[in-house]
Amino acid sequence: MSRHFSNIYHLNFFLMATHNLGRTTFGDPKNKGNLMTIDEAHQLLNEWVPNERLRLHMKQVAALMKSWAIEKENADGITALKWELAGLLHDADWEKYPDDHCRIIIEELERRNIDPEVIHCIASHGPRYFGVEPESKMENMIYAFDELSGFIHASALIRPTRYEGMDIKSVMKKLKTPSFAAQVNRDEINDAISRIDIPIEELIQYIIEHQKNVS
Ligand SMILES: [Fe+2]
Repeated sequence: MSRHFSNIYHLNFFLMATHNLGRTTFGDPKNKGNLMTIDEAHQLLNEWVPNERLRLHMKQVAALMKSWAIEKENADGITALKWELAGLLHDADWEKYPDDHCRIIIEELERRNIDPEVIHCIASHGPRYFGVEPESKMENMIYAFDELSGFIHASALIRPTRYEGMDIKSVMKKLKTPSFAAQVNRDEINDAISRIDIPIEELIQYIIEHQKNVS
């Protein structure tokens, strides 16, 4: 799920009501290891997501996923690519198909015979909406990164120096201020954090450092 801090993307209420995918298995196991290149994923984004801000959100989550896989999970190149692709494509259908968000990109990736691990990861990035629980570390991390990344970017946008000098304390304070980025569901952030053994402060610091230069 994503909050992009613009009302046109704030569809929580509708998502809760309508976006359950109605299934929990995705893709074909025989496609294991079948990925697309990052260039191909960018091409898909450029075609499907005209909104630059939404594309930036996906690039930020992709950068976080890739760096976390390499730095914290000792992932090899193929595994890191899976994490990155899931981040890059998780909201690819949001702008053009808001009523069918997640279902459309999942079906597209199934049509392209993409590795089920990537597809399941995308399907589990909003368990409250899509009805698919995150299971693997990759899935729990995309869930944890998604909302918090968007929240931190919103926090940066209102600062004159953007990410420069941004600290954990100020982000924590904003999280506790319901009127700031009110559309961001704090319960969802807390739910995601509770599923991983990483203090929220550590995750905030990681996100600031790893998404500040993404463009
Ligand atoms: Fe998102």
